[in-house]
Amino acid sequence: MTTWPIHGRITGPIVMIGFGSIGKGMLPLIERHFEFDKNRFTVIDPVDTDRSMLDVRGITLVNKALTPDNYREILTPLLTEGGGQGFCVNVSVDTSSRAIMELCRELGALYIDTVAEPWAGFYFDKNADPSVRTNYMLRENILDARRQNPGGPTAVNCCGANPGMVSWFVKQALLNIAKDTGLDVEVPKNREEWAALMQRIGVKGIHVAERDTQRAEHPKPMGVFVNTWSVDGFVSEGLQPAELGWGTHETWMPDNARTHDKGCGAAIYLLQPGANTRVRTWCPTPGPQYGFLVTHNEAISIADYFTVRDGDKVAYRPTCHYAYHPANDAVLSMHEMFGAAGKFQGKQHILTEDEIVDGIDELGVLLYGHGKNAYWYGSQLSIEETRKLAPYQNATGLQVTSAVLAGMVWALENPNAGIVEADDIDFRRCLEVQLPYLGPVKGYYTDWTPLDDRPGFFPEDIDTSDPWQFRNILVR
Ligand SMILES: NC(=O)c1ccc[n+]([C@@H]2O[C@H](COP(=O)([O-])OP(=O)(O)OC[C@H]3O[C@@H](n4cnc5c(N)ncnc54)[C@H](O)[C@@H]3O)[C@@H](O)[C@H]2O)c1
Repeated sequence: MTTWPIHGRITGPIVMIGFGSIGKGMLPLIERHFEFDKNRFTVIDPVDTDRSMLDVRGITLVNKALTPDNYREILTPLLTEGGGQGFCVNVSVDTSSRAIMELCRELGALYIDTVAEPWAGFYFDKNADPSVRTNYMLRENILDARRQNPGGPTAVNCCGANPGMVSWFVKQALLNIAKDTGLDVEVPKNREEWAALMQRIGVKGIHVAERDTQRAEHPKPMGVFVNTWSVDGFVSEGLQPAELGWGTHETWMPDNARTHDKGCGAAIYLLQPGANTRVRTWCPTPGPQYGFLVTHNEAISIADYFTVRDGDKVAYRPTCHYAYHPANDAVLSMHEMFGAAGKFQGKQHILTEDEIVDGIDELGVLLYGHGKNAYWYGSQLSIEETRKLAPYQNATGLQVTSAVLAGMVWALENPNAGIVEADDIDFRRCLEVQLPYLGPVKGYYTDWTPLDDRPGFFPEDIDTSDPWQFRNILVR
């Protein structure tokens, strides 16, 4: 039997918001890796389908939805009663990350989440300008909270697998490429040094390149949206505009691309839904594949983090975006949804670990355009290995929950760091905590480029002078 390390002690109450696929998977990891008072662990969720899992453990379920009107009243006593430093783990949908992290910091409690989530209504507001429905704006809102109130109790924002772990992979991948190309580098000590290293290596861009091959015995029925993690989360982000960190090497922009006139300026968005936008990418198992350019916080935070400035001018920035091939059932679910003009089927199902027959979640970062062309580095976690490692989750879930675990450990060890993103925190410590849960974590070089075998039978608008232009990557 494996002995799992205790990583730290949570001295106050634990409040977990959301008991969906990620919340259920968090439960055994929190129990396994922290010392805490079991009588002061509360879960908040308006749905109580899985309450028996909490009842047998003596964990209280507050069976309510948090709203702008009730969150202070519900959370304040739960996070403070009995003394010690509380810890709020927000793995829900439809609750404002900013509002809840600000309250936690006011109360002196630690906080972690996996997205910059808004209150219910944001994603489906037909009157909102597309620029307002972007992750760029959601992220700027969190950065604003940080500017208004620097330092103080640690709140780790966007610390799941992606956003989250992939930011740590980018740093490890950079060091690996440096080593493999004979560059003599020291591990950078701050953001500026990391950005300078990426520029020096000559990385033009990064795909968060994912292939989920998990499949159930019975294929998806018609009229049901099936996924390996939150259907609500995926549908919401999938209907946001496609967004990407916009690199300095790009010479062409799609006609429907738009820039922002305020904020960090690191990203653009397209006037089309991300889950209906395809890009050419590469993962070790399939080789070349299509991914969906679904908007994600890390596309913006990574591009921003690795920006090199010369005075007010941007001297270097990598392009960065998600290139996601979800489980086949989810691809079909989206096809069905967009076939009905984006109308959600109404019924949903998240595949559980016991109904998945085989498959892996291959999730990594593809750093491209440098001297060795392209390098994918990431986790290839299978459902079989997941079942051995931790209960109540599939491979996708474990990549997320183990990243939350790593972020929690970092927060406990750095309790006064203020509001941080995954890019800001110690990637080595986080990977050290997370690696036992990630299955094989490997790097692969490839000589594939998005121009391979093109043009085919038909003429194409491609840029043959630089294979790694977004012009060649975007499927049009
Ligand atoms: N960063 C990452 O890698 C990553 C990966 C997967 C999921 N996520 C995010 O984690 C969150 C949870 O994902 P999941 O797969 O568990 O989703 P899920 O849909 O399975 O569960 C979400 C839970 O939140 C609850 N909820 C809804 N409204 C609420 C409210 N107002 N107050 C409290 N609880 C509420 C729902 O009842 C549900 O049980 C989502 O925001 C998702 O986008 C991030």
